[in-house]
Amino acid sequence: MLILGIESSCDDSAAAVVIDGRRIQSSVVASQTRVHHRYGGVVPELASRQHVQAIMPVTRQALDEAGLKLADIDAIAVTQGPGLIGSLLVGFNFARALAYGLEIPWVGVNHLDGHIHSIFLQPDPPDFPFVALLASGGHTSLYHVTSHTAAKPLGHTRDDAAGEAFDKVAKMLGLGYPGGRVIAELAAKGDPAKIPFPRAYMKKAGFDFSFSGMKTAARQFIEANSDRLEEMMPHIAAGFQEAVVDVLEDKLTRAAAHLDCPRTAMVGGVAANARLRERLREAGAHNGYRVTLPPRELCGDNAAMIAAAGYHALKAGQRSGLTSDVYSRRPSACGAGPPDQNQRHPNTAA
Ligand code: KG4
Ligand code: ZN
Repeated sequence: MLILGIESSCDDSAAAVVIDGRRIQSSVVASQTRVHHRYGGVVPELASRQHVQAIMPVTRQALDEAGLKLADIDAIAVTQGPGLIGSLLVGFNFARALAYGLEIPWVGVNHLDGHIHSIFLQPDPPDFPFVALLASGGHTSLYHVTSHTAAKPLGHTRDDAAGEAFDKVAKMLGLGYPGGRVIAELAAKGDPAKIPFPRAYMKKAGFDFSFSGMKTAARQFIEANSDRLEEMMPHIAAGFQEAVVDVLEDKLTRAAAHLDCPRTAMVGGVAANARLRERLREAGAHNGYRVTLPPRELCGDNAAMIAAAGYHALKAGQRSGLTSDVYSRRPSACGAGPPDQNQRHPNTAA
């Protein structure tokens, strides 16, 4: 089954063609970071306008790269939420119009289910059940994934998402948005033990996260050391990154042990972090669980993961229709999602 995936939940306009939820024929991502960089976060109004301009060319490019025509597509999968409403509406209404014009089925997909499905786009996905850690700019959550359409949430962040904390520390250091990749590059040149950063393990027995203490520690250190910031920047980045990685690794390891589940996966934009990938592989080898990571280009937002999740939603009989609507925040059908109903996307510019 050939599925066209469409993603426009935040600041990436993406389209992809995927066969049977497994084989990527094409995956095109038009990033808007150049537009938002100087504002230190995503400006929702600008994001929607960029999506309007990009959605058609990106879709055309995905079809061209796959060597296909619109008439070859069997169904469309599109991100329905969570995300920025004005951004989601662009992709969602585009997909709806296209599906009605082509008279093919279409389905709205939860963005977090999409991230979890990025794991099925690499050659050796885990069997069910597995423990999945999702860390992105908007979410940090642990799930027990029991099928393609069922995931039990184990814990969520109580404050910032892990990627959001990277972005905020980068902003404090004057490094612009998004911050994950720049912090990781700086960290490679720094000493992670030079500056002490707190680790919030919350209740040792629980699976919730907190990253605001690390962010505050960074702010206090930056304010107290403004005269030697240039020299200290790599050490701040390394110390902060190591603290985030310690907490993510600890929670994943304990969730796998708690559920006696030897299969784990790490997904979302933060899963592109080289130090995190290295540490999780070591932790898995040491503690006897397998860690599956998507290729780095599928960690960040893309439409191939939406097509993969959509394939399984369609197989399970899910369909969207004329009256379907987008949502900013809501737990997904399979349980993936935050508990709160906060309307603001954490990465929007203040
Ligand atoms: O999944 P994603 O592309 O978008 C959301 O759904 O939010 O994740 C984006 C987040 C940003 O906060 C970005 O700073 C972070 O992922 N990120 C990283 C790295 N690359 C991207 N964080 C840490 N290390 C990286 N190498
Ligand atoms: Zn995402």
